[in-house]
Amino acid sequence: MPTLIFHGHACFELVGSSTRILLDPFLTGNPLADVGPDELPRPDTILVTHGHGDHLGDALAIARRHGVPIVAPNELAMFCRQEGADVHPMHIGGSRDFPFGRVKMVVAFHGGGVDADESGRFTTFPCGYLVTVDDLTVYHAGDTALTVEMQLLEGRVDVMLVPIGDNFTMGPEDAGRAVAMVKPRLTIPMHFNTFDIIEVDPERFRRAVGDVAEVRLLNPGDAVDL
Ligand code: NI
Ligand code: MN
Repeated sequence: MPTLIFHGHACFELVGSSTRILLDPFLTGNPLADVGPDELPRPDTILVTHGHGDHLGDALAIARRHGVPIVAPNELAMFCRQEGADVHPMHIGGSRDFPFGRVKMVVAFHGGGVDADESGRFTTFPCGYLVTVDDLTVYHAGDTALTVEMQLLEGRVDVMLVPIGDNFTMGPEDAGRAVAMVKPRLTIPMHFNTFDIIEVDPERFRRAVGDVAEVRLLNPGDAVDL
């Protein structure tokens, strides 16, 4: 069974029987991060939901250091390639079977600019990911509003990682409605309390989810067997 390790904000490692996938590795400058980018084991790949600094984060440095590819929406992937990383471009709605598992890129409603791209050429759609490892599917929603597109994921997700910090993304109540649409077995809130502007009480999310799914609050460094 895969293990999920939380590193603060929206950064997770998904560790399967023979794979290690890193998602949105914002560690440098993340006040909640429990590790630095140089302390992480070599991942098989890095999935990046969008180009904001709190998601692209240390992805380029980790990808270059270990020679592992970044998976990202096409335009963001081209930015990463320009910066010297190996990439695998995808786009919304596409899926692919990789040696490390199956990845499907899904809709997220949010900004698509790439913070480090002064030209603006690489602005694109942000995304969420469905990642299937060892027959278990994890949905990392990225930064997103509540959207009816999430209904399309009903019955296809075992574990849902959902932003609840409000202001830039869903808040706790909308995140509860998102969980009700997707109906995962387990949901883990993310993207809150990293900064003052996304400070919320996660108990509001727990109440909003009710008995629709199990809610697990993770502290940075926590690992949970899925
Ligand atoms: Ni963002
Ligand atoms: Mn963000």
